[in-house]
Amino acid sequence: MCGIAGIVSKNYFNIIPKLIKMLKNLEYRGYDSCGFAFFDCNSKSITVMKAKGTIDNFLANSRIQEKNSEIGIAHTRWATHGVVNDINAHPHVDCHGTIAVVHNGIIDNYLELREELELKGHVFRSETDTEVIPHLLEHYYRESRNILDALKKALKRLKGTYAVAILTSYDSEKIFFARNGQPLIIGIGDNEFYVASDIPAFLEWTKKALVLRDGDIGFVSRSELHIENYMDPNLKPPELFEVPWNIDQARKGNFPFFMLKEIYEQPDAIQRTIISVSHKASEVAADLLNANFLYIVGAGSSYYSSLYAQYLYAKWGLKSMAVIASEFEDLVGGAIEPNDVILAVSQSGETFDTIQAVKIAKSKGARIISLVNNMGSTLRMISDKSIVMGAGPEIGVAATKTFTTQIASFIVILKKVLELQGIDYERQIQSLQTVPRVLSENMEYFNNRALFIANWIKVKTNAFYLGRGLGQPIALEGALKLKEIAYIHSESYPAGESKHGPIALVEEGFPVVVIVLEDKNHSAVIANIQEMKCRGGKIISLIPAGDTEAQELSDLTIEIPRLDPEVAPMLYVVPLQLLAYHTAVCKGLDPDKPRNLAKSVTVK
Ligand code: AGP
Repeated sequence: MCGIAGIVSKNYFNIIPKLIKMLKNLEYRGYDSCGFAFFDCNSKSITVMKAKGTIDNFLANSRIQEKNSEIGIAHTRWATHGVVNDINAHPHVDCHGTIAVVHNGIIDNYLELREELELKGHVFRSETDTEVIPHLLEHYYRESRNILDALKKALKRLKGTYAVAILTSYDSEKIFFARNGQPLIIGIGDNEFYVASDIPAFLEWTKKALVLRDGDIGFVSRSELHIENYMDPNLKPPELFEVPWNIDQARKGNFPFFMLKEIYEQPDAIQRTIISVSHKASEVAADLLNANFLYIVGAGSSYYSSLYAQYLYAKWGLKSMAVIASEFEDLVGGAIEPNDVILAVSQSGETFDTIQAVKIAKSKGARIISLVNNMGSTLRMISDKSIVMGAGPEIGVAATKTFTTQIASFIVILKKVLELQGIDYERQIQSLQTVPRVLSENMEYFNNRALFIANWIKVKTNAFYLGRGLGQPIALEGALKLKEIAYIHSESYPAGESKHGPIALVEEGFPVVVIVLEDKNHSAVIANIQEMKCRGGKIISLIPAGDTEAQELSDLTIEIPRLDPEVAPMLYVVPLQLLAYHTAVCKGLDPDKPRNLAKSVTVK
């Protein structure tokens, strides 16, 4: 995914500093390259400045901060088509540099469009799919002499997904925009209008926003906001909403990285989520209870939390299946029936794979319920019902607080489902309600132990993460964190499964992280530890506080407070988040901007 931004001043102010800040606030969406297009107040022509690398690198090597403009667009890229270089950075322009476009999404038919346009004499400079857009606009503008009409014609030629912001000399007072399948939000400020991929771009200046829908097209100018829908002309304009976040939540504050801040925010995030989810959970409980079958669908961390839900719900007779979003069609697509329910889990609400899975299920008549963190998200718009968590904006690429708030949400939802059956689940809920306090009380201990272990594991190239039952999704999530943030090849297996092959990899000093829960699997996990230990494995165990048996067998331990067995496992992920974070920092890596990744994967 990429981040696009645009700003137009209502009062003839220089917007360059704010445009730069908008883009910085979107950099978690991709940081391979960045670029700006604006109308230079002197030259009245479009100036494009762009380069490979992060925004900070760009600012250090360009003179954009000396420029003056009242209207501009910008882009921060996560490359999909075309290598990471200056030419492939956005914005892209038409043959004469009179139309500049920034784009998030993928144009599937760009090669045939490019060939058609080249035959018409258009000259392309980049390898990107995006560059067909300004050339199409140039072509259709010649016919209609109206940018909005040209844009509608151009968009109808595109196959794929897009969120675009456009600047053109033909109508230099306006930023044109359109979306289909990728997020685009309009911010309404006192002094400016904002166009952005996500709310943090303009949150420090306004909380008033409009979430565009597929087919929405329009423009903002100094004095006007125009929105129409070219797919459904009768569609009412989007409703203005108040963003429920404050700017401090989208800033690092005194923390060195967003990831550490968001790990430490988990007590508050979980507390807010328990409250915010409880009400909505009542509205979905009957859907889940009466479903022919419940599929819980997500990607990455959202799949692992979905797996936690499957283990948990099965304990209470609620049949469900956690499904990796990108495998949904092949694995279960053919089995979907009209009275099935899809619980789609996505913190961003923009993950392409999850949205595709939902669209497939919808086409077969299934009911869609989503659990999201981003209330302006596409997934929320296409769901029959949606639950918005209270985690607040998560800027770090690694999911941390949104993972634990997803688990908290599943526990609250389960309570509501069991209530309909007259089953008491109060003990577990009371245990969940102690989590914020227990986490706060243990965060420093977790942090110190994680830092100590990070200094040992940082030189390793491989690791196992093992767990059983509810410990398995936690082990999977812990392994993902170390992989994606510290670049250590860490694999997770069900502890019982590890002896069916993977144990062949274990040799002297091989790191084995084990989730030891206070449950019926305890003795089996102890046995698995012994199997690893006798082959030279270095045992790093997360154990119930005071578990001397596990402690004596392990080389390094982190003690986890004993809570209800259905709630306690969510505590275990926090030291694993901190372990990944400190290992990355010890290795001199940026935990907020891990290589090759972006916060939300909005492409195939
Ligand atoms: C998690 O740390 C990763 N950033 C990634 O696996 C993420 O969980 C996945 O892309 C799903 O994102 P979503 O929750 O926004 O759908």
